Amino acid sequence: MRRIQTQNPGSPESLLQKDKTMAKENLPATVPPETTAPSGEDGIDSSSHGAHPRRSFLKGLGVVGAALSAGSLLTTVAEAEDRHGLTKGDAAILRFLAAAEILETDLWQQYNELGGIPDNEVPGGSGNRLYTSALEVLDEDMPQYIHDNTEDELTHEGFINAYLVSKGAEPVSLDQFRNLPSSQATGAQQIGRLTNLMQLSVDTTWFTRYRSRTGNPDLGDTFPQAIPSIAMGQHPAIPRSDDDVQPDRSKPHHISDLTQAIANTAGFHFATIEQGGSSLYPQLAQRVTSLEVLRILLSIGGTEICHFQTWSDKAGNSPPLSVVDPVTGLTVTFPDLNSSPLGGEDFQTNLIMPEPTAFLSRMLPAVSIIRPTATKGAAMGALRALTADGLFIGQSKDFFKFMRTLAVEADLAVRQS
Ligand SMILES: [Fe+2]
Ligand SMILES: [Fe+2]
Repeated sequence: MRRIQTQNPGSPESLLQKDKTMAKENLPATVPPETTAPSGEDGIDSSSHGAHPRRSFLKGLGVVGAALSAGSLLTTVAEAEDRHGLTKGDAAILRFLAAAEILETDLWQQYNELGGIPDNEVPGGSGNRLYTSALEVLDEDMPQYIHDNTEDELTHEGFINAYLVSKGAEPVSLDQFRNLPSSQATGAQQIGRLTNLMQLSVDTTWFTRYRSRTGNPDLGDTFPQAIPSIAMGQHPAIPRSDDDVQPDRSKPHHISDLTQAIANTAGFHFATIEQGGSSLYPQLAQRVTSLEVLRILLSIGGTEICHFQTWSDKAGNSPPLSVVDPVTGLTVTFPDLNSSPLGGEDFQTNLIMPEPTAFLSRMLPAVSIIRPTATKGAAMGALRALTADGLFIGQSKDFFKFMRTLAVEADLAVRQS
């Protein structure tokens, strides 16, 4: 569906800066927002766990504090942490999510530069005509949707970091890792990137997982790839250079099979990314302590599901084709998912809402749900999945170490009663 695009008076950068400024203004007076504390006894950096608010509060108690019993003091401290700080676990979960959102923004920004709508809401890039036309084969509104998804990620990243700062916790920056090359195709900015969209192995099992009426990964089930040829090998989801977007005058709108294959790959990758977010938020929400943090996870997580629903619909519109990628030498094949030997409930392209399936126990009735949602190891699982997709090919050891640390800390989080 088309909609009238509204113009936002402020640039995203200025809005985010405003958020951060507002957040800092709301800090408790005694809490330095971005200082580093020594590691805690569990090996987790206590700077991200609201340790400062607790220490500052204790100091501020003075004589009154000395008169309190140990029990009442602990209760009071816990209440103070509720008001002004975050538990260790909540901060760790938010920090991992902030990093995940920064990575999402980085990849969506690359899609928006070439196939979206660069504007003052999502600045950067100037569009690539034939790549955009190929995306529009999936849906004429693809550029608008790409733009809106990009803007959403930008706000997710900005909000979570601003919230961390407002609670005296350290925000997350991945700026030191922005070293991967940009696409050389017309329309892309030439800046350092965090993610690589030119060598993807796209996991397309979400397509069959959400159509299965019996399987659930949380119950140990596995699912076939909808598009096996982009799940194996390394494939571009954006044009690597203008060689990938040469006009083919024998084709409608002069879109070559190679350009269409790249756009189809993007169409599936959009959903792969967003179904990951759709699972990650409910997975981590089960281990947060603060009701406000729970509210943040539920509210942002819901928009990831909106995104996934949209892309789930569009991916099924990818036109069938088979083409050899001249750079990799690999044959890329998009089959007709509605025809034999495919087709049926596992592949039927207009089944875009989650089919009811088993949940919690096969003894219970089937139900339409997000899956997976099991919480154990969720952050590391998300990091592994993004890595397996090839999104970080070319990234440094330090990047993986940094991300692994955030994921381990998030997965150590336990809900406090
Ligand atoms: Fe997001
Ligand atoms: Fe997302």
